[in-house]
Amino acid sequence: MKLIGPFKQIVTLSNLPLRGKLSDEQLQIIADGGIVVNDDRIQEVGNFDALKSGYGNIEIEAIEGEQIALPGFVDAHTHICFGGNRANDFAMRNAGKTYLEIAESGGGIWSSVQHTRNASQEELLKTLVERIGFLVSLGITTIEIKSGYGLDVENELKMLRIIKKAQDHTTARLVPTCLSAHLKPRDFEGSNEEYLEYILTEILPKVKEEKLAERVDIFIEKSAFQPEESRGFLLKTKGLGFDITVHADQFTPGSSRIAVEVGAKSADHLEATVDEDIEFLAQSDTVATALPGASLGLGEKFTPARKLLDAGAIVAIASDWNPGSAPMGNLITQASILATFEKLTTAEVLAGITFRAAYALGLEDIGKLEQGKKADFVTFKTDNFQNVLYNQGSLSAENVYIGGNLIK
Ligand code: NIG
Ligand code: FE
Repeated sequence: MKLIGPFKQIVTLSNLPLRGKLSDEQLQIIADGGIVVNDDRIQEVGNFDALKSGYGNIEIEAIEGEQIALPGFVDAHTHICFGGNRANDFAMRNAGKTYLEIAESGGGIWSSVQHTRNASQEELLKTLVERIGFLVSLGITTIEIKSGYGLDVENELKMLRIIKKAQDHTTARLVPTCLSAHLKPRDFEGSNEEYLEYILTEILPKVKEEKLAERVDIFIEKSAFQPEESRGFLLKTKGLGFDITVHADQFTPGSSRIAVEVGAKSADHLEATVDEDIEFLAQSDTVATALPGASLGLGEKFTPARKLLDAGAIVAIASDWNPGSAPMGNLITQASILATFEKLTTAEVLAGITFRAAYALGLEDIGKLEQGKKADFVTFKTDNFQNVLYNQGSLSAENVYIGGNLIK
């Protein structure tokens, strides 16, 4: 056992509800606090001096200078395993080119698929581990990572095996997701439905066998998979024992409804969700995940996070870091900007990048600083936790602890 501190402030997020709006008065802030860690879990959080005398000869890991501590952040939606780069898409989009024009000139998801297929395993692993390192440097301790740039058996398995291997190179908690249903690849001879059947019969059994992922995602959109074929696919994946998450309502409304109906863990994007579907989501246990990085990358509107919270939904915020629509990768900057535009309280943002995001991943023992939870937390050199979002990502994380161990 050891006692880590003292911290000027510890924001525990303890006692905050899973769903709905939050006021900043609900935040529990422990002044001059300490965290007692037992093995990889939190034993107790409280006043540093009181813990020090209460635990007698406990080993002390001293914190230098004024620092605040927050639960480690969770990025519940990324596509950070990819080859190549789509800077030209970004420039063309900003120059006014349409989606079709960009795709015709060699851009779009298909270009990332080709670069990812052509990349060596060493190169993919190296760049993935670098991106994980960047996220950890922001204070992110749990990262979801999707496949979806392979789009055939060989290359989807290659991606998922690399994501699995990346776990040997980081102590961050990685959560892989199979997104073979990102798009029907141009070289697949057959219909969308046949491609979805190919995923079910050729890819997912191997994913299961090799324990490469326990979650399946699909992009439901006019340009990708249609609502009805997606519903059937999702129900079958559920039957195979996978958890489900959906890229929903990014440009066209309707698919968040399917996510809820099939019992998805989360419906992500939701920029185009209509009011009655906001209500529908809010009545469900499906987490509504806002992806402000995609809005910023594409110049599209933000997810209606305010309305979702007011309606009582479970709202998470994730980076969607990918080479196309969300190249930034800075979840803290994005969450802070979303707060400004959507009028979110600090408590709502912090909940959205910690325990509510963890819930979307089915992880209920991270995201709060309280007894029994994993000792994952991040510190910042400041005397006031509000500075973290106020600085919009430019205040760097000082120390990052995962399972009670200092890793940055
Ligand atoms: O979440 N919307 C679909 N998929 C990604 C974009 C991926 C890409 O453009 O490469 C997203 O925004
Ligand atoms: Fe995405």
